[in-house]
Amino acid sequence: MKHLLGIADLSRNEIETLLATAEEMHDVQSRPIKKLPALRGRTVVNLFFEDSTRTRSSFELAAKWLSADAINVSAKGSSVSKGESMRDTLMTLDAMGVDAIVMRHAGSGSVAQAAGWVRASMINAGDGMHEHPTQALLDAHAIRRHLRSIGQSDDLAGRRVAITGDLLHSRVVRSNVLLLGKLGASVVMVAPPTLLPPGAETWGVDVTSDFDSVLPDVDVAMMLRVQRERMSGGFFPSEREYIDGYGLTARRLASMKPGACIAHPGPLNRGLEISSPAADAASSIILDQVSSGVAVRMSVLYHLLAGDAGA
Ligand code: CP
Repeated sequence: MKHLLGIADLSRNEIETLLATAEEMHDVQSRPIKKLPALRGRTVVNLFFEDSTRTRSSFELAAKWLSADAINVSAKGSSVSKGESMRDTLMTLDAMGVDAIVMRHAGSGSVAQAAGWVRASMINAGDGMHEHPTQALLDAHAIRRHLRSIGQSDDLAGRRVAITGDLLHSRVVRSNVLLLGKLGASVVMVAPPTLLPPGAETWGVDVTSDFDSVLPDVDVAMMLRVQRERMSGGFFPSEREYIDGYGLTARRLASMKPGACIAHPGPLNRGLEISSPAADAASSIILDQVSSGVAVRMSVLYHLLAGDAGA
């Protein structure tokens, strides 16, 4: 594997290998291991044209904990703000001899395009409304760990996952639908008609706008953020209507079956797509997703950069 551009490119075996290696990146107390020599001498650049807290910092930690050197470049403060093109920016960083470029950009397909310009491995950290592959990998990793923690098999085959929220603007939903399908889980996409991606009914999953009818039966309620920053035409329905129909409120939390968990990639809009009682519930795996993110990104960097050991 040279690049990680999307879940669409990965086989089930490659996904299983990445997840298995991520498990090995945890210590006996289930925290990511903080120093391994595997990538000594390698250099990873985080190139973010959009804001990030979790993805950027966890890729930086993952690189450092594998003994690689890591630097962060953001559009603000770089020569991008002077008008330098994306291609010239990428070729400039590549000319410094870096081994991997972790890139987030608002353009769908931008990371795949960049992969054609550089010698380094490209890793998609979120490209527009297309994919966010490491998010889907870390989500699966965290769900599996939750299942084991309650004494159940961690096999996702046959599990039911509801992905609810602003699916129109989400790259996370696309990567998760692909990954969960490859691992045999069944997915229902839940959103108001105005926040469904065009052609959602062709994605091979169930689609509904009735959250209450599906929630009691799911193993995972994955709540996605309302992305106001991508809504130039305003937010429809209203916030009140959205909460009434799609928010994971305390009332809806009580309707979930025992053992079911709550996931959210973050950042959260507390009080909108998810209430504080749900976000902070014992069944919430939101912070486990964050720690899973470091282990999964260590696995991805290892497989891309550690030579013949790659998946
Ligand atoms: N989930 C996620 O991608 O979070 P950040 O935007 O903070 O990286």
